[in-house]
Amino acid sequence: MAIASPMIILIILTFGCFIFQVDLKKVCSQHSQIRNPLLKRTTVCNVSDLKGEVYASSPVHDNDTSIFKNKGKYHVQHGAPANLVRISNRSHHANNSDYIYASQAGSGVDIYVLDSGVDNTHVEFGGRVILGPNFVEGEENRDYFGHGTHVSGVIASTSFGVAKKASIVSVKVLDKLGDGQWDVIFKGLKWAQEEILKKNRPSIIHMSVNGDFSTTVNSYLESLVEQNIPVVIAAGNLGVDACDFSPSSAKAAITVGAIDVKDKILEYPKSNFGPCLDVFAPGENILSTWINNATKLLSGTSMAAPHVSGTLALWLSENNSLNFTAIKRRLVTESTLNALLNIPNSTANSLVFTNPPIE
Ligand SMILES: *[C@@H]1O[C@H](CO)[C@@H](O)[C@H](O)[C@H]1NC(C)=O
Ligand SMILES: *[C@@H]1O[C@H](CO)[C@@H](O)[C@H](O)[C@H]1NC(C)=O
Ligand SMILES: *[C@@H]1O[C@H](CO)[C@@H](O)[C@H](O)[C@H]1NC(C)=O
Ligand SMILES: *[C@@H]1O[C@H](CO)[C@@H](O)[C@H](O)[C@H]1NC(C)=O
Ligand SMILES: *[C@@H]1O[C@H](CO)[C@@H](O)[C@H](O)[C@H]1NC(C)=O
Ligand SMILES: *[C@@H]1O[C@H](CO)[C@@H](O)[C@H](O)[C@H]1NC(C)=O
Ligand SMILES: *[C@@H]1O[C@H](CO)[C@@H](O)[C@H](O)[C@H]1NC(C)=O
Ligand SMILES: *[C@@H]1O[C@H](CO)[C@@H](O)[C@H](O)[C@H]1NC(C)=O
Repeated sequence: MAIASPMIILIILTFGCFIFQVDLKKVCSQHSQIRNPLLKRTTVCNVSDLKGEVYASSPVHDNDTSIFKNKGKYHVQHGAPANLVRISNRSHHANNSDYIYASQAGSGVDIYVLDSGVDNTHVEFGGRVILGPNFVEGEENRDYFGHGTHVSGVIASTSFGVAKKASIVSVKVLDKLGDGQWDVIFKGLKWAQEEILKKNRPSIIHMSVNGDFSTTVNSYLESLVEQNIPVVIAAGNLGVDACDFSPSSAKAAITVGAIDVKDKILEYPKSNFGPCLDVFAPGENILSTWINNATKLLSGTSMAAPHVSGTLALWLSENNSLNFTAIKRRLVTESTLNALLNIPNSTANSLVFTNPPIE
């Protein structure tokens, strides 16, 4: 496999600053900024500066008997975060705070998260995080940055996760500032591919990562999908056409944009759009796990894409003979259509929906 000349890519498809509802530039200017020379328009807050703003209170409990009332094939998480309610009810005006999900809850499915590592000791994961390899030189195999822990929490944590019994495999390819390089990402992808083919369990590759356009990256992802490995990707946060970046332009993969709490395309930060997107998911003020047993609200397409990986895990745990073609068809036909506002004409007006059979 030829490797693209090492280019720096930037992952941080996230802003934590918007919890304050103030202008991004002002907030970031009070903190150190991380700038990536290849993506000049991207400015992110230095998350390590924001430690004082970590939210430690969790509104829901890991309490299987009383919180999750068994509804036959489905379970209900009462008092669930609004983003989970939204993907399990086609109505924007849900009159409850119930997250309803298929009872297998993703068990038996592995999600390979290529990111900054994962805090596998977080109580919210209940031991369901496997630490895979670390491809970042000069750092230990843990999440210094927090991004990978947050993303994984939206996929599979007990209180904030879509697939509450799925397993995460952490593949560390991004450093403590959230930066990575294509050659390192390739190492991670190759490892995940080999591991998935060897283990032969239902698996998903998740990348809340984006960088410069690369045909090498795109065609590699096409080859994974041809091997029936679903790949889920965040659309990016530059407010531009996702087809101009990779991996968000990889046609075969599933590319996810972000909406806000009013069902509009996310403005802060701005979700990418365009024909390369397959579906949207909530991406504003998403509460999830953070390093050192904390929780945190973050916004961005990094937070939206894990809703889709979690949903695929729910489906695969109910039926492990679903191939990628069937999954993608289900995503296209069973998502909630034309419910979203301000979606550009070139972009599918499609919101991920976890439970087609329930309504
Ligand atoms: C981020 O903030 C931490 C703590 O204040 C500091 O040590 C680090 O150098 C900063 N990183 C950048 C890229 O500014
Ligand atoms: C279980 O949830 C209920 C609220 O529904 C709470 O009162 C109780 O303390 C929880 N139990 C545990 C062990 O967390
Ligand atoms: C979804 O929301 C609608 C509108 O409030 C409500 O009538 C319906 O019961 C909700 N569905 C579920 C499964 O909670
Ligand atoms: C929500 O709406 C449904 C259908 O209209 C109704 O059956 C249910 O009682 C309502 N739930 C609440 C909590 O108001
Ligand atoms: C998180 O809490 C669990 C359970 O108390 C503990 O085992 C683990 O070490 C904690 N993790 C960190 C990073 O403190
Ligand atoms: C599982 O998926 C396969 C392939 O799409 C389909 O043929 C089969 O009917 C499904 N099984 C169930 C129980 O839905
Ligand atoms: C995927 O499954 C569908 C049935 O759900 C089947 O028609 C199709 O041939 C399968 N595709 C591959 C590549 O196996
Ligand atoms: C989208 O399509 C509608 C209806 O065809 C048109 O009125 C509108 O101007 C279009 N918007 C953009 C941004 O192209």
